[in-house]
Amino acid sequence: GKYRVISTKSMPGTRWINLLIEQDCRVEICTQKKTILSVEDIIALIGDKCDGVIGQLTEDWGETLFSALSRAGGKAFSNMAVGYNNVDVNAATKYGVAVGNTPGVLTETTAELAASLSLAAARRIVEADEFMRAGLYDGWLPHLFVGNLLKGQTVGVIGAGRIGSAYARMMLTVSSYKPMVNNLLLGKEPRAWKRFSKRPMCRGPVVDEVALVEHLKENPMFRVGLDVFEDEPYMKPGLADMKNAVVVPHIASASKWTREGMATLAALNVLGKIKGYPVWSDPNRIEPFLNENAPPPA
Ligand code: GLV
Ligand code: GLV
Repeated sequence: GKYRVISTKSMPGTRWINLLIEQDCRVEICTQKKTILSVEDIIALIGDKCDGVIGQLTEDWGETLFSALSRAGGKAFSNMAVGYNNVDVNAATKYGVAVGNTPGVLTETTAELAASLSLAAARRIVEADEFMRAGLYDGWLPHLFVGNLLKGQTVGVIGAGRIGSAYARMMLTVSSYKPMVNNLLLGKEPRAWKRFSKRPMCRGPVVDEVALVEHLKENPMFRVGLDVFEDEPYMKPGLADMKNAVVVPHIASASKWTREGMATLAALNVLGKIKGYPVWSDPNRIEPFLNENAPPPA
């Protein structure tokens, strides 16, 4: 291969690897066992010559890494994620590195997880499952795991973009609520959201988790499902003890189809930039590059 492309993690499927190999790239996949690579780990991976990198949302792609990538001749970086709050796009632009993300392929998968969490939280699925497995079920009872009915309820979506809108569509069939998509969907803004929402930002930090734990303690009937956390991978003290919370480890995009699609898109992002291909014919690719007009480094 003429071009050296690094993936900081092993990714699902083989299509992404084949695409790169077929197009003159040598692909190197980091084999480090630790879950989260440090900036130093990644600098070592980049080395003296590296044309492009596929990275992960757990990595800190800022000034240091983009300058190292640029020094190694790198022109492209893609996050294997739709979110990019781990990426300093301005720094990338400054060093002439194009930055890509992976929208589109994870919309429905992520919305399905949100719908699953909503239903699981409302109907106390996890608590009930634990109860069964603990051998505690000794017969039907009128009070056993009584939860909340969603039919007729208002479903609010804060951030009705691609994923939020897909979630809203799914939940509308459950709640039969009149659709009000692409706006703040809320008829009446629930007090809870006023109290918890901190910053208009994707992922965990949108929720004030300490306030959420207090609210869960005071209101046993209030139920929540969470996929991301304020200080990921940690949960704020007390959250793990709350029976009225369902918590899963940032798996919203984790369907086989989607994860393979994300890996493929990330590879195409990097490949397209290295080879100078015109970007995307795929109608799902609404934002092919976050900084398509990144100037060459000075
Ligand atoms: C996951 O959080 C993603 O942004 O893809
Ligand atoms: C429950 O099984 C019922 O028949 O109401």
